[in-house]
Amino acid sequence: MKALLGVDLGTSGTKTVLFDEWGVTLASASEEYPMAQPKNGWAEQDPDDWWRATQHTIRAVLEKSGVAAKDVVSLGISGQMHGLVLTDKEGRVLRPAILWCDGRTGEECEELTQRVGKERLIAISANPALTGFTAGKILWVRKHEPEVYARAAHILLPKDYVRFRLTGLFASEMSDASGTNMLDVPARAWSKEIADAMDLSMDLLPPLYESSAVVGHITEEAAALTGLMAGMPVAGGAADNMAGAIGTGVASLGKAFTTIGTSGVVYAHSDTVQIDPAGRVHTFCSAVPGAYTVMSCTLSAGLSLKWFRDTLCAAEMETAKEMGTDPYVLMNEQAAKSPIGANRLLFLPYLMGERSPLLDSNARGAFVGLSAMHTRRDLLRAVMEGVMYSQRQNLDILRGMHVVPEKMLACGGGAKSPFWRQMMADIFDMPVATVQNTEGPALGAAILAGVAGGLYDSVPKACEALIHDQEPLQPDAQRHAAYEPFYQLYTRLYPGLADAYAALAAL
Ligand code: XUL
Repeated sequence: MKALLGVDLGTSGTKTVLFDEWGVTLASASEEYPMAQPKNGWAEQDPDDWWRATQHTIRAVLEKSGVAAKDVVSLGISGQMHGLVLTDKEGRVLRPAILWCDGRTGEECEELTQRVGKERLIAISANPALTGFTAGKILWVRKHEPEVYARAAHILLPKDYVRFRLTGLFASEMSDASGTNMLDVPARAWSKEIADAMDLSMDLLPPLYESSAVVGHITEEAAALTGLMAGMPVAGGAADNMAGAIGTGVASLGKAFTTIGTSGVVYAHSDTVQIDPAGRVHTFCSAVPGAYTVMSCTLSAGLSLKWFRDTLCAAEMETAKEMGTDPYVLMNEQAAKSPIGANRLLFLPYLMGERSPLLDSNARGAFVGLSAMHTRRDLLRAVMEGVMYSQRQNLDILRGMHVVPEKMLACGGGAKSPFWRQMMADIFDMPVATVQNTEGPALGAAILAGVAGGLYDSVPKACEALIHDQEPLQPDAQRHAAYEPFYQLYTRLYPGLADAYAALAAL
């Protein structure tokens, strides 16, 4: 028996899955951790929480599965993107990680744009300066915490920090590095031009690999902490969306998926670099060596529903606990009792500001059309519809770039809900399928590990052999027509509110 480990370092927790060589799950384990929001729009996590969760979940899957450590061929990590981890020379973390959904760097992004030049920055890094991305965070720490910055010797992304703890090596790989605003995306190398413009020493940046390359090996210390064999290879792994693409089989032209996780992503594979000149959607390196992706990212997709659950669904949470079921199942049942359009109620899911397609860190959530007749079930349905309209708005941009095929694969926690998947099919007006193994990023990371460990010839070949779609849900023409005017109205709300959001942020 040969097994592969995929570690998925997410925002709400880390999930580790042990697979056999055919991609079948042998055991899985998760551990949650908190996200601190010290100020409105800020988001931080303690990198040691990620490392602890990684150790515990690796131990747990080895124990649960009974698989011997010597039979685990290799390990891959998928990680939340863009977060800034700063360490000293020895790899000691200097401050909490500033996360992808943190919006504090508006000024630094303007500074970066000025230093590099708007067009040059997009031509090199394939994206405009974005508050979620890493470069602005580096400038922020340098300006606001100079004493921390002075001690910084290594800049790492979240999963690269965990890989450092496993292997003792500082390294990164193309897919995650493309979310820093510092990678020359077409050349797949750190950009000296951008580093020079930022006045940043290239020595702070780790060496780069492709996702399916061997980057290091488990150290004796990590072996003792996790139960793995010292010397086992660890792959480059990938950013969560790019790992999710591999785990969903989106590794060749004509394939696309939509994730409803904490963030919402519409993602299409591309063999060439395609850039939206307006920068509304991202271009990144894919985890397939030499390939690319065009994708959108909204900041509060599943997070909107989680916020609703935690803030307004105490009763459902209590009942779900008593029934031994998931509160989201009960919330779905409630939402389904409200009609399409939620009795004329719209929700804007901009709880953490918004990235694609608005690029406005000041934007915030809103219920529009709230009436005394509305009940919690209408609010719930409006939240779910608003999240799906925001994905549709991005899908329309990708459609304009001709990178989206006829069928969509749905993944992430939100895709577990048949109600939300059908809503996706109806609002997108396209068939929506899921894949048989829904482990997405963890499976993708394990496949990358499998290529690194010599089990598979190439990433696309492994995907073809291992990933199979389920029968898709079909869109319903009548329901699509019923959603359409609400969607069109949804797209008109943000432009009307943009000034108010800026004023609110300035108060
Ligand atoms: C993508 C992005 C998010 C995070 C979530 O650009 O910021 O999808 O990777 O984990």
